[in-house]
Amino acid sequence: MINQLQTIQKECLEAIKNCQSLADVEKVRVEFLGRKGKLPILLKQIVGLSDDQKKEIGQKSNQVKQDLEKNLNNKIAELEKESIEEELKNEWIDVTQPSLNPQKEGHLHPLTQVQKTVEDIFISMGFMVLDGPELESEYYNFEALNIPSWHPARDIQDTFYVKSQKSLKSKVTMDVGKENTNRLLMRTHTSPVQVRTMQKYGAPLRSIFPGRVFRNEATDACHDHTFYQVEGLMVDEDISVANLIATMQTLLKEIFEKDVKVRLRPGYFPFVEPGFEVDLSCVFCNGKGCRICSNTGWIEFSGAGMVHPNVLKAGGVDPEKYSGFAFGFGITRLVMMKYGIDDIRLLLNGDLRFLRQF
Ligand code: PHE
Repeated sequence: MINQLQTIQKECLEAIKNCQSLADVEKVRVEFLGRKGKLPILLKQIVGLSDDQKKEIGQKSNQVKQDLEKNLNNKIAELEKESIEEELKNEWIDVTQPSLNPQKEGHLHPLTQVQKTVEDIFISMGFMVLDGPELESEYYNFEALNIPSWHPARDIQDTFYVKSQKSLKSKVTMDVGKENTNRLLMRTHTSPVQVRTMQKYGAPLRSIFPGRVFRNEATDACHDHTFYQVEGLMVDEDISVANLIATMQTLLKEIFEKDVKVRLRPGYFPFVEPGFEVDLSCVFCNGKGCRICSNTGWIEFSGAGMVHPNVLKAGGVDPEKYSGFAFGFGITRLVMMKYGIDDIRLLLNGDLRFLRQF
């Protein structure tokens, strides 16, 4: 039996040497050491031997088994190392190679892009960029802005009032302003942030307030119930209409990347006095007259004016000492003008075929 053991050992070592893959090694292991392998089968004959022989063969066969297992494991390690080296040799990546299948990148919404541009322009002129609540109180949206209760702007037609005020009142911990005018609504413009900001920072002050506003109106190509405005406010000693014009001119020149003319017409907004409509020379025809500007050469751009003393007072600012200008324009309209978009509804309906163009 000793001889047979040695033969098995030799055969097995030879077989291990010839293994090319992990699968080969496993085959050899099963053939020699498996339950029906050559070594266990040989060892079955041990029953017929004397005790001394059993002992001798037992020891010897253990040595053989251990030796073979060691050799099998070494072979496995060797093959694994080879295969890793092979992989490293073949599967390297050239990180400088341009991608063959570039992933489509997402990007900011055109409204956000234009809003960021506007913010940058104002930051460069020393303005802060602040925001205020979209769910507003009647006080800040109207009352504090010198819009009395009889004013048509308060009309239920234009304003989304929020129902179930009771349950809201307990949940909403915002400062709603004065008693009795604390009904809640979706803000119809960004102007309420003027008063909130004056209350918080006092004068002097320069800030813009970009944000979403809501109007209860029928939707068509020019109107949406939700759109974006940028409000601006500058309060200091000796602020005049000249500062307003200069600010508007700088803004529009930077946005459209060319010289545009700015024109003021009288306009009525209860929270400014005097109030203006700000027009800019048509960016499509350079003021010559075209379909977009209805042949007038001008496009309406913004509401503006000198902050009404009552509004300064509501903000805790002394109208005897300080004056200010304010303006408010729609970024949505600006985006439409900048890119020649003729339907406002495209901007918020989330159609990727439209959005991917920007
Ligand atoms: N809040 C006005 C609007 O929504 C715009 C405006 C802002 C006008 C500031 C004058 C001053 O139409």
